[in-house]
Amino acid sequence: MILVPQELENTASKYASEAIKLDSQGSRRKAIQLYQHAIEALNKLIQIYPEYKLNKIYIERANAYMNRIKSLQISNILEDEKNDDKASNETVVKKKTVSVESNSDQLCNEFDNLVMKEKPNVSWTEVVGLDDAKRAIRESIVYPTKRSDLFPLGWPSGILLFGPPGCGKTLLAAAAAAEIDGYFINVDASAMMSKWLGEAEKNVSKLFKMANKVLETENIPMLLFIDEIDSLLGTRNGEVGGEIRVKNQFLTEMDGINNKSKKSKLYVIGATNKPWSLEAGFLRRFQKRIYVTLPDHESRNYLFRQYTEPLKKDKGFRIDDLSKLVQGYSASDIKDICQAAQLRVVNELFESGKALDENSDPRPVSMYDFKEIIKIRKPSVSIEMIRSYIKWSEQFKAL
Ligand SMILES: Nc1ncnc2c1ncn2[C@@H]1O[C@H](COP(=O)(O)OP(=O)(O)OP(=O)(O)O)[C@@H](O)[C@H]1O
Ligand SMILES: [Mg+2]
Repeated sequence: MILVPQELENTASKYASEAIKLDSQGSRRKAIQLYQHAIEALNKLIQIYPEYKLNKIYIERANAYMNRIKSLQISNILEDEKNDDKASNETVVKKKTVSVESNSDQLCNEFDNLVMKEKPNVSWTEVVGLDDAKRAIRESIVYPTKRSDLFPLGWPSGILLFGPPGCGKTLLAAAAAAEIDGYFINVDASAMMSKWLGEAEKNVSKLFKMANKVLETENIPMLLFIDEIDSLLGTRNGEVGGEIRVKNQFLTEMDGINNKSKKSKLYVIGATNKPWSLEAGFLRRFQKRIYVTLPDHESRNYLFRQYTEPLKKDKGFRIDDLSKLVQGYSASDIKDICQAAQLRVVNELFESGKALDENSDPRPVSMYDFKEIIKIRKPSVSIEMIRSYIKWSEQFKAL
């Protein structure tokens, strides 16, 4: 995770809110100046941290301010003309409304971008291991969508996936959505909390409204995947009382889908690396709480087999021995290790100068390559973290 200098973000935010205030009071020229300062601060932020995940939002914000500046400038010109030759008042008023509308359209687009409505293309078999999680998802999501008549008491509509990074939470949610042949709405909760999108509790309510609307019009199952759900509890805008409002809004929406009808086809899967920061009221709405664990020996074998499948391997290559070396590594670590081994032999080919010959091939990868890589690549999850997950799981898991 890249840290964005809070100072720069705060500066941009301060300029922007001051600009909006002046804009609403009709001080166009001053507002334009402040919008410009906000854009400059946002651009700087994007330049310094090109990989930051909120950049898309910053860019959209900057564009929205730019458009607002343009329409304010048009209003200024029209105003000047009016003063010059007494142009009719109506034109100005009309223009003004149009520009305000387009500004709010932009906000809607911004929200739509945050929420990706898609039909994922991930198959169940691509998710290695995690049998508990797969079973729970099948029982509470897949089967009810196929034969809702067999579930007179309804089914759980909230599932919480918790566990260390890179073990398949997102992958599982995508596979579930593919299996039920429904929409997969992927929401990044931390982005939703961003002050750039307005008040966070309104975003929460907008999200559920949108999901319900799609459900009503298209009547196909809908899976709302809320990644980093713990960030709904800690707002970044430091507004007093903000966290509580967001949390309450979320709880109300969850009750809405649990009570509305026993047959709601809206499912919520929440994912978190920090389950301990969720409180009881929150947990109660997720009837299933599933630990997405590090891969066990068998799963590691499977992962190595899958990722080394397209590679040429040395005769002494033993997958079982490799899996012993990477106890404590995540599935995504294993993927990275395999990629690094492949890069190693390709780099060698380039460095030998032979890569330019189209018929040349890299040498097969060997156990030695893997051992060298594992030596300098530590697991991305610490033992202490794993202990905390196990402890939390023992106390709160619900399969
Ligand atoms: N169980 C798994 N089976 C197969 N591949 C996996 C598995 N878990 C992780 N991977 C690989 O690692 C990548 C990252 O996994 P994923 O995004 O699902 O992790 P995550 O648990 O959601 O992590 P985070 O908490 O960081 O969001 C996947 O795209 C996939 O390539
Ligand atoms: Mg994820």
